[in-house]
Amino acid sequence: MWRCVSRGLRASSNRSISGGGHFRRLFSSQTNVGGSSYTVVDHTYDAVVVGAGGAGLRAAIGLSEHGFNTACITKLFPTRSHTVAAQGGINAALGNMTEDDWRWHMYDTVKGSDWLGDQDAIQYMCREAPKAVIELENYGLPFSRTEDGKIYQRAFGGQSLDFGKGGQAYRCACAADRTGHALLHTLYGQAMKHNTQFFVEYFALDLLMNSDGSCQGVIALNMEDGTLHRFRAANTILATGGYGRAYFSATSAHTCTGDGNAMVARAGLPLQDLEFVQFHPTGIYGAGCLITEGSRGEGGILRNSEGERFMERYAPTAKDLASRDVVSRSMTMEIREGRGVGPLKDHIYLHLNHLPPEVLKERLPGISETAAIFAGVDVTKEPIPVLPTVHYNMGGIPTNYHGQVVTKNGDDPDAVIPGLMAAGEAACASVHGANRLGANSLLDIVVFGRACANRVAEIQKPGAEQKPLEKDAGERTIAWLDKIRNSNGSLPTSKIRLDMQRVMQNNAAVFRTQETLEEGCQLIDKTWESFHDVQLKDRGLIWNTDLIETIELENLLINACITMHSAEARKESRGAHAREDFTKRDDEKWMKHTIGYWEDEKVRLEYRPVHMNTLDDEVESFPPKARVY
Ligand code: FUM
Repeated sequence: MWRCVSRGLRASSNRSISGGGHFRRLFSSQTNVGGSSYTVVDHTYDAVVVGAGGAGLRAAIGLSEHGFNTACITKLFPTRSHTVAAQGGINAALGNMTEDDWRWHMYDTVKGSDWLGDQDAIQYMCREAPKAVIELENYGLPFSRTEDGKIYQRAFGGQSLDFGKGGQAYRCACAADRTGHALLHTLYGQAMKHNTQFFVEYFALDLLMNSDGSCQGVIALNMEDGTLHRFRAANTILATGGYGRAYFSATSAHTCTGDGNAMVARAGLPLQDLEFVQFHPTGIYGAGCLITEGSRGEGGILRNSEGERFMERYAPTAKDLASRDVVSRSMTMEIREGRGVGPLKDHIYLHLNHLPPEVLKERLPGISETAAIFAGVDVTKEPIPVLPTVHYNMGGIPTNYHGQVVTKNGDDPDAVIPGLMAAGEAACASVHGANRLGANSLLDIVVFGRACANRVAEIQKPGAEQKPLEKDAGERTIAWLDKIRNSNGSLPTSKIRLDMQRVMQNNAAVFRTQETLEEGCQLIDKTWESFHDVQLKDRGLIWNTDLIETIELENLLINACITMHSAEARKESRGAHAREDFTKRDDEKWMKHTIGYWEDEKVRLEYRPVHMNTLDDEVESFPPKARVY
């Protein structure tokens, strides 16, 4: 039962922040569910962005620049978003170190994706890349510099010149090994300048979907005071990041819980290609912290227990700078064959100690400190113990290259969901296909964050009239929230989370088989079942971290279930999905995107075609071939 009260609230009450601090008339109401009373505050914006990492901030900046009244909802203070952890850099064919061409970058990205990437989207990203990096420079990002003052670009994995024929490319623009930190702070400053209205420490719960299938905003919980907020908006942009924390060991922040993905799945829309989970070759053994690929770009070398530079055997040309999936598999094989290092022979050494100390100080100061703190290693003298660690989700919310969310609708595999967009790791554009190249992620977030804003400007006018929310908008979500808050089962959230993380780590690992995946499906379904028996101790609404972690766990579980079932179904090896029983890529049967629905708490799979076409005749599409480094 809704009881509406109109009141003049300052939109920047609580923890909302605005560059301009403007006032807005809001409406609040009370709704009673299961004996509890919830305050619901209504807001209207032209656009609402969920997430304030690089993709969310770039989208919000673009929307504000185009004159759209924009809200950005974020569960973290913006500069704490996981983008801050990105180290190595951002790819763009600037040609500062050698001659370069965005088409060569496109070729590398298509090859890196193992031909699962959509070539129209990849063309768009690589062609836009130089502009995007110069724009960041103009925003004030403090890039590292060459002697003559140009943006310094380092070598990174899977990057070549002249369509793979010209040797290693130097394409990765960086700010030492803290590029994400520099980028995030730069974008936050710009967002402040552009008057974006931030709602900080608001946890987005669900999409507000209309009965006609369009999206009309989101409902969020203000974690500070327990009020609920319905954000009505003509355009909703999800930029909520990945779900690395479904695994036991991940470079991802603890906040990477796939919230946007789960919101989409709960709305009956599909998630795409979740079986492709990237393992970064160099997470610190035990701690999981990232040691940037830039360390190998600057000359670092992986060695086994025999002191051998084993990548020479697996990737004779690119060696330690082969694509990430290739390096992670090679390391795993060395360990399996008894050539791992340490007392348990279960990891590998990354040597930087042959590099000049001044290079380490200037180009790799962040990881030198991380290695000292988390591995107790002085990188100038000793190798760093490393292990492939979950790092990135290639899959996510399917979009076209404008950032519009798409689904399969009858014969149309690319049907647009009106009002809904996604960008960054939450999205699957799909520019990374089956395997992302290092430093294409920071690029993806700025290019597609901006693309979303540009698309909104093409299809809508600022201040356009919006239809009212449907009568029951958000009611189901409030009932769901109330049920979770009052869960009185026997299992703590942390126990179920650990079960999930162990299943994902063991059964959807670097190498997979039918046996491990079938068992994984059974175990992850069982873990989902056990979620019905979850127990919360805190029943409050004010800073209830027990509640937030439990909702995050549900979100992770939905992502985990779709990941495992999608992986079990794909009977081939492609990119990061390496099956020991189907060792070859099978383009005839499997060059297609998986789309996984979450229906009645079960996974249902369908498929949609890969876009092999380019946008125009500036480049021809790259036909599939064997992937050798
Ligand atoms: O190794 C790294 O610095 C990570 C970069 C990336 O994932 O793009």
